[in-house]
Amino acid sequence: MNLQFALYGGTLDIVRSALITGGAGFIGSNLALELQARYPEAWVVIVDDFRSGDFRNLEGFHGDCIASPLQDLQASVRFKDVTFDAIFHLASITDTTDHDRLRQVRDNVEGFRQIIEWAMRDQTPVIYASSAATYGHADSVMHESTPPSPQNAYAFSKVQLDNLAVHYLQQNPAWRIVGLRYFNVYGPREAHKGHASSMIYQLYRQMVQGNNPRIFTDGEQRRDFVYIKDVVDATLSAVEASKSGIYNIGSGTSASFNDVVAILNSALELSMAAAYFDNPHPFYQNFTQADISAANEMVGYRPAFDLQSGITDYLGWLENGKQGDRTM
Ligand SMILES: NC(=O)c1ccc[n+]([C@@H]2O[C@H](COP(=O)([O-])OP(=O)(O)OC[C@H]3O[C@@H](n4cnc5c(N)ncnc54)[C@H](O)[C@@H]3O)[C@@H](O)[C@H]2O)c1
Repeated sequence: MNLQFALYGGTLDIVRSALITGGAGFIGSNLALELQARYPEAWVVIVDDFRSGDFRNLEGFHGDCIASPLQDLQASVRFKDVTFDAIFHLASITDTTDHDRLRQVRDNVEGFRQIIEWAMRDQTPVIYASSAATYGHADSVMHESTPPSPQNAYAFSKVQLDNLAVHYLQQNPAWRIVGLRYFNVYGPREAHKGHASSMIYQLYRQMVQGNNPRIFTDGEQRRDFVYIKDVVDATLSAVEASKSGIYNIGSGTSASFNDVVAILNSALELSMAAAYFDNPHPFYQNFTQADISAANEMVGYRPAFDLQSGITDYLGWLENGKQGDRTM
């Protein structure tokens, strides 16, 4: 059986089987469900240790779910006779305020090392999650050639993933390995992340509970917010990137925190003033914006949602009684 993905007007030949690490998490569960919705015959295997992920994200999932930390997976033994068509590696500690350096770097990097060393056997295409956090402090648009400047252990661990990917590609130039530097992703199935969920979700929760939206003084910090549906499309299409590499996946624009509050006020028909408070995090990125031209060229990436339409789509899902009342 040869399954075809129709994306960005092109066709993408994959996938009879796929492995998704971190598949119980925000991006991983959306990816797993979308894969399954488009190609119900595909065999999708998730590996997740549920340290932040939530099984409730996987309602309707009919593949296999292996509950294990990646470090203990012994992929080459467990999957001795299995070849996947694609591996999507999303598992990671995702709370950037977790400053346990040993845990962040060991778990994130050694988990990836497990996967990539095993995937080398069959040169299975690997799509892995890097992050805009690798860029650190900046005041202009981030291009993939901008040198990394990690400001916390999480960002450092992601730089190590990128370094490992480059190393393996140098040894195996024909192998398809694609790193995706996601910017600020928001959308359905992120409630389990609590204080690490997107600011759009957190401000929405505060506002519908009748509280003024709390943002850092003076609200003029700017981030590149990208909707989950665009991220999932980009991640799937990366399997057929015209060449291996590391690509920014953002919206290509930035919006201020004051802008976010204004859009939420308008969408919710409220007029709540922002409650400003001082930012306690010295590592915090006050500006992010992705240059997405390389992703456009290599994986055909063209975001379909701007911030306004992404928030509208998301609120439609939340207001339908989905995860809006979950753990915060
Ligand atoms: N959401 C964003 O805005 C964003 C931005 C940049 C990069 N990323 C990256 O995208 C990926 C997915 O992030 P997310 O937002 O879905 O976060 P998430 O916390 O919802 O998902 C991460 C998943 O990985 C699992 N996990 C963590 N460590 C593991 C390990 N060692 N072994 C097995 N499972 C493990 C968790 O239980 C969770 O289900 C991560 O690699 C993250 O760093 C996300």
